[in-house]
Amino acid sequence: MPQLAAQDEFFQSYDDENGHYMAAKGEVIYEERGGYMIDSLIATGTFGTVYRGHSLKGSEAYKKDVNSVAIKFIRSIQKYANAAEVEIEILSRLNNYDLPKRRRVTHLVDHFEFKKHIVMVFPCYGNSLLDFIKLNEHRGYNQEWTLEFTRSISHCMSYIHSQKIIHTDLKPENIVATSKTHRSNLRGKIFCYPVTAEVITIDLGSAIHAASDPDRRPPLVCTRQYRPPEVITGLAYDSSVDVWSLGCIVYELATGIPLFNTHRNTQHLAMVEKLLGPAPPLFMQRLQDRVRLTKLPAAECGIKYFNEAGVIAWHDRLTEAERVGLERAPSLAKLEETLPSAVVGVIRCCLTWLPENRVTMQDVAAILSASPPDPRMLAMASLVAETEGAYRTGQRAVAGAGTLMRHAAAIADLDPKLRRSKSRGSISR
Ligand SMILES: Nc1ncnc2c1ncn2[C@@H]1O[C@H](COP(=O)(O)OP(=O)(O)O)[C@@H](O)[C@H]1O
Ligand SMILES: [Mg+2]
Repeated sequence: MPQLAAQDEFFQSYDDENGHYMAAKGEVIYEERGGYMIDSLIATGTFGTVYRGHSLKGSEAYKKDVNSVAIKFIRSIQKYANAAEVEIEILSRLNNYDLPKRRRVTHLVDHFEFKKHIVMVFPCYGNSLLDFIKLNEHRGYNQEWTLEFTRSISHCMSYIHSQKIIHTDLKPENIVATSKTHRSNLRGKIFCYPVTAEVITIDLGSAIHAASDPDRRPPLVCTRQYRPPEVITGLAYDSSVDVWSLGCIVYELATGIPLFNTHRNTQHLAMVEKLLGPAPPLFMQRLQDRVRLTKLPAAECGIKYFNEAGVIAWHDRLTEAERVGLERAPSLAKLEETLPSAVVGVIRCCLTWLPENRVTMQDVAAILSASPPDPRMLAMASLVAETEGAYRTGQRAVAGAGTLMRHAAAIADLDPKLRRSKSRGSISR
């Protein structure tokens, strides 16, 4: 991986052994069409390297009045180049219908090929949410900021979903602030936050069309910590994978640490079970159907993580370190004890074993756009918990998120206690 220190010393660009383009400081690329000057390295990702730069007179970005740019060089490896083609196609489509005044998805202002690399040019936005979490030494934001970020993310994501696109890699490093970083001194410690909580979604490099054939989609999507149980166990998935990821992000924003701090499926599923309770029978049914349909041995299917009672069989499968990790992982009671109830409400509505029980991004955006946050979120969370519980005892028919919303709205209207719930809190913890 390229290092910033190494960058400063090099005045000649080159490709490293992994196909990353190591641009030189002050280098001008794509001069024949005006060009862009490279200023500094922003980040290296899986797909390529992103530099901060500025557009020169005559370039496409300059014509669009975008001066400060983020230039993403895709690695010169065929599979990443293919993925970049899809990213460009999806971004062009999303940009087409996006609101220029309030962008919800990163704006692709230019793209071209340069020295065998596909290059994409975007306006340079602020820090990513992961940058903020790190800058704040994993201290987490208060309720007000957490819910404001969540509102903005769900607003961006409901647009992406409305265009029938699934992001599949929603995580703090793929969400960037649209404003500069502000630093304040909080009880002797510096706390960083953007000037406003408005964010924008970036990195559509793994995005897929929601209308694509489920059997031909990549089976393993989402970065590990943000991956939902249906993906871990090899079941079909849809746009609600992004909603699961959002639930994980909300927890991380509020606490500064990932909700599922894990690298292995068994431990991951055991953590999910600890938080949500055992998987409902319908989930188990789907796992069994999967074995029947694929005709694969059970030991190669998602069902292998469970015992006959439908409980994650982790006891003799985890290392000592993984056991400790599982012990430290939060339960729902712990969440309720340590986090504001509105934040727990959002998390609970996003995280359900059954994908169809999750709220939609539109629901989250609508509920959080009300100021103070709409108390229906709390009512809905308890309903989700109740309904998933009912699956376990087999007492009630399936209720989708839309039904839950209607029930929740009715409850919130009836219960004055919920209506009094207010967003409280100062700027930061
Ligand atoms: N337009 C942008 N403005 C500011 N930073 C950006 C921009 N685009 C990307 N970045 C930064 O570069 C990182 C990698 O970019 P990304 O598009 O996510 O590439 P990858 O597919 O390699 O993960 C992001 O996590 C973010 O920190
Ligand atoms: Mg990324």
